[in-house]
Amino acid sequence: MSDGIDIRPISEDEVDDFLRRVEAGFLTVSSDEELEREKLAFERDHALAALDGVTIVGTTSAYSLEVTLPGGAPVAMAGVTAVGVAPTHRRRGILRSLMETQINGLVDRGLPLAGLLSSEAPIYGRFGYGVAEEHRYTTIDAPRFALGVKMAELADEIRIEAVPITRTDDELIDVVGPFWERHRLTQVGELGRSDDAWRAKLSTLPKDRFEYLAGRGDDVVGVAMVNAKVDWIGAVPDGSLRATVAADDDVARAALVAFVSRVDLVRSVSLATPVDDPLRWAVVDRRAIRTDRVDDHLWLRVLDLPAAIEARRWATNGSVILGVDDPLLSANSGTWKLVVEDGWAQLDRSQAEPEITMSISAVAPLLTGAASPHTLTASAAIRGAPDALERLAGMARVDRAPFCQTGF
Ligand SMILES: CC(C)(COP(=O)(O)OP(=O)(O)OC[C@H]1O[C@@H](n2cnc3c(N)ncnc32)[C@H](O)[C@@H]1OP(=O)(O)O)[C@@H](O)C(=O)NCCC(=O)NCCS
Repeated sequence: MSDGIDIRPISEDEVDDFLRRVEAGFLTVSSDEELEREKLAFERDHALAALDGVTIVGTTSAYSLEVTLPGGAPVAMAGVTAVGVAPTHRRRGILRSLMETQINGLVDRGLPLAGLLSSEAPIYGRFGYGVAEEHRYTTIDAPRFALGVKMAELADEIRIEAVPITRTDDELIDVVGPFWERHRLTQVGELGRSDDAWRAKLSTLPKDRFEYLAGRGDDVVGVAMVNAKVDWIGAVPDGSLRATVAADDDVARAALVAFVSRVDLVRSVSLATPVDDPLRWAVVDRRAIRTDRVDDHLWLRVLDLPAAIEARRWATNGSVILGVDDPLLSANSGTWKLVVEDGWAQLDRSQAEPEITMSISAVAPLLTGAASPHTLTASAAIRGAPDALERLAGMARVDRAPFCQTGF
């Protein structure tokens, strides 16, 4: 790029410097041990640095991940991470150069999707990313929380077990890893994690952590990871838990949430939930569950439009002519005919007049079902004739909101 800044891959010798610069961008400093753990999951061949002379002033990288789309097929996704520009070099176009180089490089590798978690919502839309999943951040007033009679009966069959606090990270991965591998394929929006990614992740989590498993018969069907903080107001305990709860089904999830809400000394439990969380419909007192925020979480960038569209399962058969605008990747731009048969799509070039037009960033919520074509039209993100929108809405329909609890 101009301005004396070079964008290039990094050598093995530059890895430590690169990772230290990434951390500085996020205003943190890790110990040497944490850095070594981070290196376990680091993929150097995905790393790009912006250099001012010999100094790294900008970074981006990616993990090789898979995301689950409707229909359950895992789709390759570059999990973009480590994005930062030095405070001394901000707002000079370095991020733009990094993003453009990265996106073109990922296309050359044949990847259909890139995904990221954004530190600030306004940054990535300009590079074609769109919101593919949201989190409903929730706080439970623990003493008031109780499952309704019907859910409580069902949840009775779930056995909750504590993972011994003496376990090592590797022992935890042995139990949670196989559960996660099954679970993530049933959860639209969720990502696969390698054992190394688990190790790197666990090393960044606070050590005062408790884990609980939900069992049905001999199977592990859910996991809760919990951090506790107990304050005392005079002699009165005022404990709060931050929980991450994942389960194969809603009964196991309800059982885990009910369990952590009943831990002694605890007054509140915070956790992220899907936006359409059924738990609010399964409790005695729904006002015991407060929504603090609903925020964007997983963003997707479509790199190969036909591959991405054809990777998800669609709800109804039909066809529609789409006009897509992608300022960075001309191969995605233009007019396409989307035909769905037996639930699977084919996307081909078309000479017809588009019935619905959208920018590439609006394809992200359509892929996962984070927003319907009707919602996207109402928000002016897509435009089209009512009958075409009705057809696309039928095809794109999903029964449940996507949910991704994997940080990267
Ligand atoms: C966010 C960050 C990477 C931006 O880098 P940068 O080199 O200053 O960005 P650029 O100069 O290339 O800006 C590109 C465009 O994004 C916009 N932009 C950059 N950062 C933005 C922000 N935080 N909020 C809104 N817009 C932003 C710029 O205004 C510019 O807009 P334009 O296309 O209309 O000209 C940098 O500020 C940073 O490192 N922040 C701290 C770490 C972080 O949040 N990283 C992102 C992790 S997901």
